[in-house]
Amino acid sequence: MRSSDVDTLCAHRNETEVAATQDWPMPYVAGMAGWLSGQDRLDDITSGGRTHLAIDVGGEHVGELALLLDDKGQQASIDCTLSSRYWSRGYAREAALAVVADLVDRLGVVRITATTDPGNIAALRLLEAIGLVHEHEARLGVVRRGERTDATCYAVTADEWRAWRDRPQGSPGEVSLVPIDSDSAWAWRAVEGHWSQRRFVASVSDSYTDALFPDVWRGGRLVPVLLGVMADDERVGFLMYADRSPSMLSPYLWRMLVDRRHQRRGIGRQALRLLARRLLAEGNTHMTTTFAEGRGGPREFYLGLGGRVTGEIVDDETEAVIDLTTLAAEPVEP
Ligand SMILES: CC(C)(COP(=O)(O)OP(=O)(O)OC[C@H]1O[C@@H](n2cnc3c(N)ncnc32)[C@H](O)[C@@H]1OP(=O)(O)O)[C@@H](O)C(=O)NCCC(=O)NCCS
Repeated sequence: MRSSDVDTLCAHRNETEVAATQDWPMPYVAGMAGWLSGQDRLDDITSGGRTHLAIDVGGEHVGELALLLDDKGQQASIDCTLSSRYWSRGYAREAALAVVADLVDRLGVVRITATTDPGNIAALRLLEAIGLVHEHEARLGVVRRGERTDATCYAVTADEWRAWRDRPQGSPGEVSLVPIDSDSAWAWRAVEGHWSQRRFVASVSDSYTDALFPDVWRGGRLVPVLLGVMADDERVGFLMYADRSPSMLSPYLWRMLVDRRHQRRGIGRQALRLLARRLLAEGNTHMTTTFAEGRGGPREFYLGLGGRVTGEIVDDETEAVIDLTTLAAEPVEP
């Protein structure tokens, strides 16, 4: 960035939605941006200090990426700000991903970190989309507007980031459902969603607990069935359903989780088609599920599988019913 960006910088910083999770004083005026002049002499990301990069769309300055690189050029922290007029268009993701790639591939940075407000779901999803992984919650870890407050900390090493970048991304060749047994139970715990998706689904470990101590539903204890999802010989997903029983008229899909590295490859859809075939063969006609609503949640996924919202809310979740014949009918092969 340059001193000449001061007007747009102030305009972004004075947007209420943008400032909500940041710590700069409000209103933010040009006199507070004296540090910008220090950027005028930079022509690259520098070690031992801050570099502010402008995010530019079609010649317009729409946001900033602030980088702090340590003295040895090994660890960088990143912080992204975008004018709210440009939110939800993928610009922050594109800019931040390009910067992370540059830090790793060109500058040889070995660890990248980012800190955000725990309730800032858009920021959590951005960090996850560029390959960072939740590392810890820093309770009262930052000061915001004079108050100590919690922070959520993400990080990735260069090796982890390269593995994430090079992960398979297309449709898998073969998807299968396999039993989980005492030999494999610990290995299946490595299947994990993104941190921001904990709002929608419990971890595999928590599902084991629920399976060990199943809830009572309409006077009968739920009968859990746990299955692993394999894709091309890799463990990529986990599902658990409550089987039909005297108190459960049709199977209830209790948990459905595709590992964060393998989402959006069609694996969830294929896994549920395979489950539909299996449940049909056992004499069922439909299954129910419930899902939490929210940005990045599974609503579209279930509706895309032919799920029909019943109008019932169960434990604050939306209930949907899925016709097994329709779901099973489509070919499972990609
Ligand atoms: C929901 C989940 C199981 C979907 O699995 P998946 O393998 O990523 O989904 P698929 O690739 O099979 O997606 C099939 C279709 O569902 C829809 N879909 C899936 N995830 C979506 C998302 N996050 N936003 C919008 N649509 C989505 C899309 O239409 C997608 O087709 P497309 O990629 O061609 O557009 C997976 O994202 C996940 O584990 N999420 C976290 C846990 C969760 O929410 N589980 C459900 C608990 S009830």
